[in-house]
Amino acid sequence: MIRASVDLNSPWDLCEFFHFGGQMLDINQLRADTPGVNQIIHFNNAGAALIPDPVIAVMTRHLQLEARWGGYEAAAQVEAELEGVYLSIARLINAQPKEIAVIENATRAWDMAFYSLPLMPGDVVLTSTTEYAGNYIPYLQLKKQRGIEIRFIPNDEYGQVSLAALETMLCDDRVALVSLPVIATNGGPVQPIEQIGALARAAGVLYLLDACQGAGHIPIDVKKIGCHMLAATSRKYLRGPRGMGFLYVEKNLCQNLEPTFLDLHAASLLTPETFEIRGDAKRFENWECNIAAKLGFGAAVDYALATDVDAIWERIQSLASYLRTRLAQVNGLANQDVGQVKSGIVTFTLNGHTSSQLQHMLGAEKKRINVTPSTFRSTMVDMQQRGLKDVVRASVHAYNTESEIDVLIEALERFSSEQP
Ligand SMILES: Cc1ncc(COP(=O)(O)O)c(C=O)c1O
Repeated sequence: MIRASVDLNSPWDLCEFFHFGGQMLDINQLRADTPGVNQIIHFNNAGAALIPDPVIAVMTRHLQLEARWGGYEAAAQVEAELEGVYLSIARLINAQPKEIAVIENATRAWDMAFYSLPLMPGDVVLTSTTEYAGNYIPYLQLKKQRGIEIRFIPNDEYGQVSLAALETMLCDDRVALVSLPVIATNGGPVQPIEQIGALARAAGVLYLLDACQGAGHIPIDVKKIGCHMLAATSRKYLRGPRGMGFLYVEKNLCQNLEPTFLDLHAASLLTPETFEIRGDAKRFENWECNIAAKLGFGAAVDYALATDVDAIWERIQSLASYLRTRLAQVNGLANQDVGQVKSGIVTFTLNGHTSSQLQHMLGAEKKRINVTPSTFRSTMVDMQQRGLKDVVRASVHAYNTESEIDVLIEALERFSSEQP
């Protein structure tokens, strides 16, 4: 696990310690905890990051328990640990455990919040041009079904949400919701989420955040942000298993939102004619779930907390900035990132090569390099506005290294001098 203190006399190479506000992030330890780094160079952390050993250990232990005792009996043995998952997530985002629902992915978590909002004909949803298709489609569905209106907040000179424009747009009484991703799936800016929150709160408008690419990547404090609802996933920057996510709903709001779907976990039967919905955010969950993955998700959050999310963010920024500097040296390559604060999601295009060709070519390198195309379909409005069809997404995490980036650059330089 993460070393609490560092012995400066140890034989470890000091450059492998990343300085952060007087503290050091032990990169060697992060890599030692991550078996995947031995066989691949993984720059697809925005897709699904490499899972560290403590997460694998918790999940395999639970599968063994299920195999030996039975699924229900195994779950009964880890009841306290399962409650601990809510405590860990709450700690990660400065919320209360009762404000957390653990749901099978970010999309469904987001859906559970969004579809429970009592949006009426004429109500306006304000979103960013970087909105994810998985959220944008539900806006369109409610536009069709309930007659809501979708408006895009224009971007400022940095390519991120314009606070001045938002302030003006919030003057319209019909605005019922501000909803956007903290960081878009195709990179782009880290949106000014606290300033947006202050404006939404001042206008008395609900604020829903998609922190799918943000959780575990940047520090998230729901109190400071002032959001009412926030959804995120396990498998990306939090480095947990697939098929897990969470939803935060502020406790004062929670009891006023009726989930679209209910089951016998979200509510209880009182009589054959009546039921009662539970008071906490678990009203957005359903009963059956992957217990091993839920425990693994908790272990991943604990791992991020033990590593220190501030230090992770600092390290990601340093690596991403190194990657952008090196990309600028490759012939015919254009970095496509915008924003005042740029994230660890680095996007680019290379003359003469499509992003899927580059994905395959990098995947065929001696040590496989994982990147992914980010296509028009995921963030259509943003890509349309910027005249892009698709981009290569190379997303770095704290366990990546400068030398891995050098290997990527060497390959890109080779490809840029060859015909596709
Ligand atoms: C910004 C954003 N929101 C939501 C999602 C969906 O997350 P999930 O697949 O966990 O539902 C993604 C996935 O790539 C994403 O990038």
